[in-house]
Amino acid sequence: MQMLLQRVYLQIYFQLSIINMMGKSIRVKAPATISNLNCGFDVIGLALDEPSDILELELTERSGIEITGIKGCAGLSQDPDKNVVGAVLRAALDRAGSRYGFKVSIEKGIRPGSGIGSSGASAAAAAFAANRLLGNIFSLVEQVMLAMEGERLASGSAHADNVAPALFGGIILVRSYEPPDIVELHVPPELSCVVVHPESEINTSVARGLLEREIPLTTAVRQWGNLAGLVAGLYREDYELIGRSLVDYVAEPRRSSLITGFNELKSAALNHGALGAGISGSGPSVFALCRGRESASRVLEGMSETMRSLGIAFDAYLSPVNSHGTHLCRKIMPE
Ligand code: HSE
Repeated sequence: MQMLLQRVYLQIYFQLSIINMMGKSIRVKAPATISNLNCGFDVIGLALDEPSDILELELTERSGIEITGIKGCAGLSQDPDKNVVGAVLRAALDRAGSRYGFKVSIEKGIRPGSGIGSSGASAAAAAFAANRLLGNIFSLVEQVMLAMEGERLASGSAHADNVAPALFGGIILVRSYEPPDIVELHVPPELSCVVVHPESEINTSVARGLLEREIPLTTAVRQWGNLAGLVAGLYREDYELIGRSLVDYVAEPRRSSLITGFNELKSAALNHGALGAGISGSGPSVFALCRGRESASRVLEGMSETMRSLGIAFDAYLSPVNSHGTHLCRKIMPE
């Protein structure tokens, strides 16, 4: 009886919060991410301060999802069935059993196909914003699962190594997918990230298609040794160990040929003092982890010089590990 009353009370509470949110919009910002970190394909990622995506979301009486505009990127579809944001919002409404709908506008600060979690940031922002407007009914892990529906649409695979750090911030380990087990890792205070994005796009599903379905045991042993070394290095704040562990025997050998100048860029990062470097996500961005901001500035300059000498246009970012993840920008109340 008490349980039943509690459930009825919760139901009324959720309905009232939803009515209270009707017609109001919220702005939400979600950061770019570096996934895989060389040794942790599909299971580890970290959040950057910039660039980021912004969504403005409104709950509507009318059911269905309307994408009213996309700024900062011409190539993305406004059809909610073909856009990661639409996929996540639909999943949120379905899981909430809600008969309402959403209106959403998207500002892309992260270039699609750049390898720094462009679809992941939009998906994370959609899951976070939907949760807020539906009365905070989803836990952070449930929001990760909603955001994974966006990744499923974007790349054919519901991986979480971009959406989890985008939502949580920090460095995140996806220990298990079934059931989801998301572990926040320690972030050594001096860790600094550099990302160089050569101005080209790589389709994640194409890059995933290049990978071997099975890997030899000897390769697996080397890869999981490095992943364990990276996690130990983070906790011990042992920057040398972090650097030694940033090695990829699984994806890099298959994917690096997609990135013009990859070997030169990686060498430039290491020669200028990076702890380690490699492909960010499925590329073409190349990341480097460094000890301290000054070292990261030297690495950024070395990598930029390499890009200039190769004559390849690029964007570059230097960032600490972002600690807050997806968050509210501001509330916009109706007149
Ligand atoms: N772990 C994924 C991959 C990230 O490497 O395919 C894609 O953004």
